[in-house]
Amino acid sequence: MADPDLTEAHLDDRSEAPEGAVFPEGAAVNSSDEVAVLETVMRRRRSVRGFLETPVPAGTLRSIFELAQTAPSNCNVQPWRVYLASGETRDRVRAALLGVVGAAGGPVEPPRPDFDLGASFQGEYRRHQVECAVALYREIGVERGDAEGRLKAFQRNYALFDAPHVAFIGMDKSFGPSVVVDVGIYLGQLMLLLTAHGIACCPMGSLRNYPDVVRAELGVPEEIGLLVGLCFGYEDPAVPANRTRTTRAPVTDNVRFFE
Ligand SMILES: Cc1cc2nc3c(=O)[nH]c(=O)nc-3n(C[C@H](O)[C@H](O)[C@H](O)COP(=O)(O)O)c2cc1C
Repeated sequence: MADPDLTEAHLDDRSEAPEGAVFPEGAAVNSSDEVAVLETVMRRRRSVRGFLETPVPAGTLRSIFELAQTAPSNCNVQPWRVYLASGETRDRVRAALLGVVGAAGGPVEPPRPDFDLGASFQGEYRRHQVECAVALYREIGVERGDAEGRLKAFQRNYALFDAPHVAFIGMDKSFGPSVVVDVGIYLGQLMLLLTAHGIACCPMGSLRNYPDVVRAELGVPEEIGLLVGLCFGYEDPAVPANRTRTTRAPVTDNVRFFE
């Protein structure tokens, strides 16, 4: 039964692992140091929407993406397919994307994603969605009726928020929601790894909207559908959007604890 009296105090009460329990690789379970490090990284991660030009060293990128390969997946099929653009390739893909969202004077082309992922948020979901947009628009000074400001804010996504790197993450088009779960886990682990390296990032659903453009620039095979993008680099603290902070609902809104 759900415990209606569940309080923050209960939630703080971390249970101990059985004595002698070990991780598969032999590290002690529940080392408070490990929890503290993970907590620091998880709390530090946030979506950053303004980056310095400085690229991440190639060796660091390589080791991050190698470690991200440890992500679990159903039956270990490792379905994520990642196309990482830096340098001139990133410049080309950015220019091509800006071209289809009106930044070069043409119209904003309708999105044409590989997957029908459409979600229309209502009720409490809609409330969270609006709060998140309001938090960003407040920082970047875009008023409710400011259509031009909103268009520019939208286009910033396709300018990759000036990030020096962008990863497009996809999977085989024949896969469905169960495999999307795996790719989402990969994305989550990747973001934490970047954060631990002091590298800021922004996960971007908007970057799934024009897969043909990305496919042409990066040679993504026809059978791979793009699910999400991730732009990353070093945060530019002077960019107003980076003052944006989001909140989270109390855990009991999302999690029912049964005993
Ligand atoms: C799958 C996914 C897609 C997202 N797409 C975008 C996007 O296209 N543009 C954007 O500015 N932020 C995007 N975000 C960032 C969310 O707005 C952000 O994660 C949320 O507001 C919580 O804020 P935080 O990441 O700073 O904790 C996306 C996040 C996720 C997980």
